[in-house]
Amino acid sequence: MPLFARCFARFWFPPLQFLIYCPHQQQPGVHMSEKPVDALTQSEAEAELKRLAEEIAEHDRRYHTEDAPVITDAEYDALARRNLALEARFPALIREDSPSRRVGAAPAEGFTKVRHAVPMLSLAKAYTDQDVADFIERGRRFFDRDKDLEIAFTAEPKIDGLSASLRYEGGVFVQGATRGDGAVGEDITANLRTIADIPKKLEGSGWPEIIEIRGEVYMTYAEFEALKQRSAALGGQEYVNPRNTAAGSLRQKDASVTASRNLKFFAYAWGYTTQDPAATQYESVQKFADWGFRISPLMVRAKSVEDLVAHYHLIEEQRSSLGYDIDGVVYKVDQLELQRRWGFATGEPRWAIAHKFPAEQAMTTVQKIDIQVGRTGTLAPVARLAPVSVGGVVVENVTLHNEDYIKGFDSNGQPIRDGIDVRIGDTVVIQRAGDVIPQIVSVVIDKRPADAVPYEFPHVCPVCGSPATREVNEKTSKEDSRRRCTGELICAAQAVEQLRHFVSRGAMDIEGLGSENIDLFFNAGLIKTAADIFTLKQRRTAVTKALAERREEQARLREAASGKTRKNVRGVEDRNYEGLDKLFAAIDSRREPELDRFIFALGIRHIGETTAALLAKTFSTVEELIRVGKETAAADDPHTVFPSINGIGDTVIDALRDFFGNERNDAVLDALLEQVHPKPYIVTLSADSAVAGKTIVFTGTLEKMTRPEAKAMAERLGAKVAGSVSAKTDLVVAGPGAGSKLKLASELGIEVIDEDAWLARIGKA
Ligand code: IVH
Repeated sequence: MPLFARCFARFWFPPLQFLIYCPHQQQPGVHMSEKPVDALTQSEAEAELKRLAEEIAEHDRRYHTEDAPVITDAEYDALARRNLALEARFPALIREDSPSRRVGAAPAEGFTKVRHAVPMLSLAKAYTDQDVADFIERGRRFFDRDKDLEIAFTAEPKIDGLSASLRYEGGVFVQGATRGDGAVGEDITANLRTIADIPKKLEGSGWPEIIEIRGEVYMTYAEFEALKQRSAALGGQEYVNPRNTAAGSLRQKDASVTASRNLKFFAYAWGYTTQDPAATQYESVQKFADWGFRISPLMVRAKSVEDLVAHYHLIEEQRSSLGYDIDGVVYKVDQLELQRRWGFATGEPRWAIAHKFPAEQAMTTVQKIDIQVGRTGTLAPVARLAPVSVGGVVVENVTLHNEDYIKGFDSNGQPIRDGIDVRIGDTVVIQRAGDVIPQIVSVVIDKRPADAVPYEFPHVCPVCGSPATREVNEKTSKEDSRRRCTGELICAAQAVEQLRHFVSRGAMDIEGLGSENIDLFFNAGLIKTAADIFTLKQRRTAVTKALAERREEQARLREAASGKTRKNVRGVEDRNYEGLDKLFAAIDSRREPELDRFIFALGIRHIGETTAALLAKTFSTVEELIRVGKETAAADDPHTVFPSINGIGDTVIDALRDFFGNERNDAVLDALLEQVHPKPYIVTLSADSAVAGKTIVFTGTLEKMTRPEAKAMAERLGAKVAGSVSAKTDLVVAGPGAGSKLKLASELGIEVIDEDAWLARIGKA
């Protein structure tokens, strides 16, 4: 398309963000660094993640708020994917403002209903070769009078996702809907638009004036695993399987959340159309590919039961290497004319059938239920099974997800989807869903031992004994499905992870003290909490010994692998590790960290780097943060104590309350502050400042900072901030919308300045 025409397209299709790509405009996304993710160093990755967060936020704003994006969907997706890939490689560097953090956004309450112009049907099922032969035989009998007729079939994988119907008018994607009950679905157009496999405008030519393309939205295993990892790193929600996750991703209110999930789409059928795409099923689907859709590469045409079943087995063999879930093979009559003649039974076409794979299942018993404690304190129940082979893989453990799942109902007594009442001693049926993640599909109640009792989910952490609680989301009043250990820094399971976080780059950034050394020193009992890192030097001999033993162990393993033996084995204690002095020096050099880093390093839930910086800015010193934190924790209503800070909401305030309200954190924090002295955020000599000793009133809207921020800053400079204007007022800082206070100030002859003049006066302009 010539340049001017592309720019012109902007004005023709204003809501079609994908088309709106004007090469004249500045395109921040296109100048993306080309260095492969795997080749980036940690500090490069950090810088890159920052850039991506800013850039993606800017594109989101242009797309959602201004309806005027400057990059194509594909370019946007490339940015988002790069961000995800970087985060997968450097989970410790995931930013507070990362685009992927929006994964936790709540699903939409309600979408507009859409009545399908042609209902979305389901498929009859075949489980055996005989069922398939019967299907073909039914067809032959139906067309009996037409003796020369040769019925052809297509065979293709049955994707285990969610079906969607995409309406194109004049080649333009205008509406997308879920299947719903088959007759009425939900309008999820905005979310479907974020899927790269769904063309926003059909390519090629010859498409009908109106056509509803149907197919399956699904999530790959790789994407599912990446999402789980990101979520775990952030203490976010948990995900059961790719299909449910894809479903949840499609029902998001915020389309950028859907976009971050990288869903996929295969086109395999159509609904209403003003013209058949072609004369056969096979050719129609090939046309879809010409129009820009992805179609299954495993679709073939076949004529006999033998050929169909042979293809079924071929697909079955490839099942585990496809990278996404399929649960069978769909056979469809190829000739559209014959499809029409054979017609429909209730809710199903007679001319198609789904040949299901036998589920890979096996029976075993639950020997015990263990609770594992994760980084953010989540108590994760795991069933230990009598080992059993499922589809060629020995399964010994299976996740039980959470407390409600094990009970089979939630805290309101409502049965939950996917929930199951599992007890120790139960005989269970195990299935490897999607060939990878084993799960319990059912309990064989007949075999339940008479003395089996419902599993009592612990209310204390099995590692540290602290209470384990379930949080209530204040907005939805819903209890979190997970129980969490409240022990924080005193919980050993969380402690190692917290220590790793404490020394990490964005936090205290202690060189030479990576995860490996943290594990080593923790397991050797040399460090328990962060304070111990700073006294390590005093245990030099023990540190040397631990390092030496690890070297010995590694050397032994190397030898065992190579089959050689060493001649001289030196004593382990007498080695001097160069590097050790360097490590101690690195630790010492971080005794006066920046306050924001220190706050971030504490690993308080929901407090990432950005929030830590806001807190540092607001409170200036660690003592002040602790004072306000404790008062907030003790107050009935935290808002009477905690200042309102733009960017800090109830989630963070609650996290601070939990942290500072937990006495056990006191000792840990006190010990740490004996070793470490965070620098005050802004060092100013208040007596020297131009506003020291003055009484100031802020009124109207401030545009460069929030009121609490302005207040905190003025106070740091030695000023007093008052809420109302009086004869004692020295200065009024008035923003737009200032009313009575401004009037009174001029009546009293008090100096009034605007925000810019204020910033200039305090040297911040
Ligand atoms: S054809 C009229 N083809 O299976 C035929 N369906 O049980 C309509 N599905 O709701 C469906 N892969 O979600 C068809 N290759 C495929 C499929 C497929 C998955 C799903 C689809 C449908 C369900 C029917």
